[in-house]
Amino acid sequence: MLKCIFLLLIRIYSAAAVTHSLKYFYTGSSQVKKFPEFVAVGLVDDVQIFHYDNNTQRCEPKQDWMKKISDDDYWQSETYILQGYQQSFKTNIEIAKSRFTQTGGVHVFQQMYGCEWDDETGEFTGYYQYGYDGEDLLILDTKENTWIAVKQQAEITKNKRNNDKFRLEWDKNYFYQRCPAWLKKYVDYGRSSLMRTDLPSVSFLQKSSSSPVSCHATGFYPNRAEMFWRKDGEEVLDGVVKGEILPNNDGTFQMSVDIDLSSVAPEDWSKYECVFQLSGVKEEIVHRLEKIRIWSNESNIMMIIPVAAVVAPIVVLCVLIVFIYYQKKNRKR
Ligand SMILES: *[C@@H]1O[C@H](CO)[C@@H](O)[C@H](O)[C@H]1NC(C)=O
Ligand SMILES: *[C@@H]1O[C@H](CO)[C@@H](O)[C@H](O)[C@H]1NC(C)=O
Repeated sequence: MLKCIFLLLIRIYSAAAVTHSLKYFYTGSSQVKKFPEFVAVGLVDDVQIFHYDNNTQRCEPKQDWMKKISDDDYWQSETYILQGYQQSFKTNIEIAKSRFTQTGGVHVFQQMYGCEWDDETGEFTGYYQYGYDGEDLLILDTKENTWIAVKQQAEITKNKRNNDKFRLEWDKNYFYQRCPAWLKKYVDYGRSSLMRTDLPSVSFLQKSSSSPVSCHATGFYPNRAEMFWRKDGEEVLDGVVKGEILPNNDGTFQMSVDIDLSSVAPEDWSKYECVFQLSGVKEEIVHRLEKIRIWSNESNIMMIIPVAAVVAPIVVLCVLIVFIYYQKKNRKR
């Protein structure tokens, strides 16, 4: 019962909350195969607005409304700034390696910063942090305006940053003035795109006849959605595993929720339905489970395998790197 109330509250909360966010992720890596050694992305409400990497060496808009917002000079100056970051990340990763007394191997150095804006309270919050090899390294407490070393190896940098009053003031100004101003401007320009709703296409997938049945929704926007299995009008919790909401590379999102039906008689499968709810849309999308509608590798093996083999490693790596921090931050809150 408690669990049920809890889930219900989460659902109400996620539907009502109107927060906007501006996030920047800079990632420097060494010896990660087939991954650029420096990548920078910016996101507004989790929608990518620009891309830069060491191969293109250009900051490029990812949304039509971002093209309109700024002229060539803007993109040129962003390009210069990011070329500078690319150089300093090369140095940063070397410094981190020496502080952790490492000589070579695969390493990832990340910087994440941005701000969030609660549309209802009007409150802004900022954050700024560094990570190394997937763990927190150094965090700016934006309320107190002081750096905190999460790892002892970051002590030296922490002290340097805390003694640099000019830089601290600059950062404070960024998180309380400029970042909120940019975020408001972006949300304003991108309004028709950011406030839209796209409904997903939903399919049933199953690896083999004994594995769980996955209800997979893809192509939805925004990334505030709920999906669950229902039987006789009630949500099924036993044997259900919910996946996370993941980005597609066209600005939409996908998610899936698996159910283990191995102990359910085949004639009862049709009592189960998969329900998808999108924030801002009243009607739910309901798909009743029918055996005939389940896609499996048994019939589509020729099609699925080559695509998965090419796309899966890239997707896994990108999702890992970009979202390690996103999740960490959410967990902290
Ligand atoms: C970008 O980084 C990758 C990975 O280290 C490297 O293979 C590639 O040559 C770099 N590109 C340029 C233009 O330096
Ligand atoms: C389908 O995939 C599962 C899991 O990868 C595997 O065990 C099964 O043998 C596959 N079925 C066919 C017909 O290849």
